[in-house]
Amino acid sequence: MTGRAKIIGTGSYLPKRILTNKELEKIVETSDEWITTRTGIRSRRIAGAGEETSKMAAQAAIKALTMAGVTARELDMIIVGTITAEMVMPSCACLVQKEIGAENAFAFDVSAACSGFAYALEIADRYLKNAPDMKILLIGAETLSARVNWQDRNTCILFGDGAGACVVTGSKDENGLLASQLYSDGRLWQLLSLDAVPRRYCPVVDYKTIPDRDSFCDGSAFNMVGKDVFKHAVREMGDAVENLLKREGITVDDIDLMIPHQANIRILKSLAERVNLPFEKVYTTIQKYGNSSAASLPIALDEANREGRLQKGDLLLFSVFGGGFTWGVVLLRW
Ligand code: ACO
Repeated sequence: MTGRAKIIGTGSYLPKRILTNKELEKIVETSDEWITTRTGIRSRRIAGAGEETSKMAAQAAIKALTMAGVTARELDMIIVGTITAEMVMPSCACLVQKEIGAENAFAFDVSAACSGFAYALEIADRYLKNAPDMKILLIGAETLSARVNWQDRNTCILFGDGAGACVVTGSKDENGLLASQLYSDGRLWQLLSLDAVPRRYCPVVDYKTIPDRDSFCDGSAFNMVGKDVFKHAVREMGDAVENLLKREGITVDDIDLMIPHQANIRILKSLAERVNLPFEKVYTTIQKYGNSSAASLPIALDEANREGRLQKGDLLLFSVFGGGFTWGVVLLRW
């Protein structure tokens, strides 16, 4: 028996607290104009009490399960892509399992930074090749607001919190994951890194409080060489897209919609230009939610799905890039 991963339900959860660029002007030396022109970001969501990574992940999961018509007890496996789980042990996936009552599933996290969701999808696809009846819950969830240094204007303006989820099972028709390719290059880890243990405890900010310099952690070690990350993201995702399409005998004109990791609007525009894809075919949420790492792609997928942007038979391309470096591309028929 062989199968391929088919997405049968999507869901997402965004924290209630919206942090605008104007508010950020009160926290660091920056301006709405700088952030908007350099990144495309206008606001981001910040997790508050009760919106820990696993809690948001569970909320997104429940919506995806409802859409899929699958109960939590029917799940065989749960994979969460995250770099901001509440604890090193247990995994975020185990907390989600408890939260939703998926007692028949085994559960684990994938640490691939912003590429976490694509990595999880590829793992699910490999399982489904041998066991197409499996029902698998995939989640990307992050609370980066609890880990970034809110006094470092180079990084704190970029990130937001949230969770996205989908349910996959083996396809019984032509739809589903057609091809994928993942990559890593650990040699470049210093261009983008986050210490495993915060140098100081960083509480998740209560969404009701207006952020000021004192309410955020200033001790976490988030290191980023922005310009290099930008260059590598465009180059590696561009190469990955071109190589996959060539390998599969597909032209970029055949693609109906690209849903990329939401890093920076200029990265997405450069990528689209590089692979000759009209920007109207690139789905973006970066303006509203910033960069929510592994959560950004499944959140965008859920929004596109619920807006009716995805028609049965559409050819979709997911492209991701993140710390590690990790990157990859997934081609699927909706
Ligand atoms: N507000 C105002 N000025 C700022 C800010 C800010 N928030 N941040 C930096 N600056 C200043 C810099 O200090 C610098 O000043 P200087 O010239 O006096 O030294 C100036 O603005 C220009 O900075 P650059 O680094 O040249 O700005 P750049 O155009 O490269 O944009 C950015 C920076 C937005 C970080 C960009 O490099 C980028 O997006 N890189 C990709 C990073 C990324 O996406 N990281 C996310 C994680 S990885 C991923 O998801 C793919």
